[in-house]
Amino acid sequence: MKGIILAGGNATRLRPVTAVTSKQLLPVYDKPMIYYPLSVLMLSGIREILVITTGEDQPQFRRLLGDGSDLGLRLTYAVQTRPRGLADAFLLGADHIGDHSVALILGDNVFHGSSFIQNLRAATERVGGCRLFGYPVSDPHRYGIAEVDAEGRLLSLAEKPTATRSNLAVTGLYLYDNDVVSIAQQVRPSPRGELEITDINQVYLDQGRAALTELGRGTAWLDTGTFSSLMEAGQYIEILERRQGARIACIEEVALRMGYIDAAACLRLGKTMENSDYGRYVIEVATGSRIPELVP
Ligand code: G1P
Repeated sequence: MKGIILAGGNATRLRPVTAVTSKQLLPVYDKPMIYYPLSVLMLSGIREILVITTGEDQPQFRRLLGDGSDLGLRLTYAVQTRPRGLADAFLLGADHIGDHSVALILGDNVFHGSSFIQNLRAATERVGGCRLFGYPVSDPHRYGIAEVDAEGRLLSLAEKPTATRSNLAVTGLYLYDNDVVSIAQQVRPSPRGELEITDINQVYLDQGRAALTELGRGTAWLDTGTFSSLMEAGQYIEILERRQGARIACIEEVALRMGYIDAAACLRLGKTMENSDYGRYVIEVATGSRIPELVP
């Protein structure tokens, strides 16, 4: 399975902090936001990942992550010239996807929880059609919303509905079989001028090939779209990391524990950051003095 991280957009709701940098490079406590979705893909076993950004921001993403070889990954980059919608990722990523299945994750989505990764791994092993991940929210009008029946079967989807009976948001993580590329080619822009991912999901739903995994209460799906929610996401990460002594979404640690790099390579990465707590943590992980449970 191939991976795509969509990290485009102008994030005008976070001006001026996004005036000269990408939202997905802003810190969520101790690391750039994109580390969180990147670690999700890495933990689910995906190593070939396309990072889609604006043209202006791409050099910074390249400076941060390079070609991924330091982490045992193969990272490639594509430019989205203007925000044409999430479904555009499959048009920009068609060559990258080739004849594989694909996981798309939004570069500003922060997930955390061990059952989440178990759910995801189980889902990536057998992708037929499309699989969505649902999470209950108190403000459903801000999201794509799914309705499910008592057995958890997906009944309907709606993008940012004004009125809905359901509070189950469709999170920014989507798994598809290879048909997604041809479906994306047929989708037409919505009234807001975007190629909506919900329209792709609707095609799968109409074909009876869409399923949804409900992420349980033990999983956190955090918002980073406003100043307050971005701050709260950082505080959530800080609280857990300080309490447990383990870092969340530490991509060097994930690469080591997934067997993508060896301890010597991990140590080298840690040493480039030895003046920070984060870097010292990577060194401790590499030298084996820390063996926490692996969670994004
Ligand atoms: C997008 C999707 C929406 C989904 C959300 C998750 O919304 O259109 O269906 O629930 O991401 O983050 P946007 O962030 O583009 O408003």
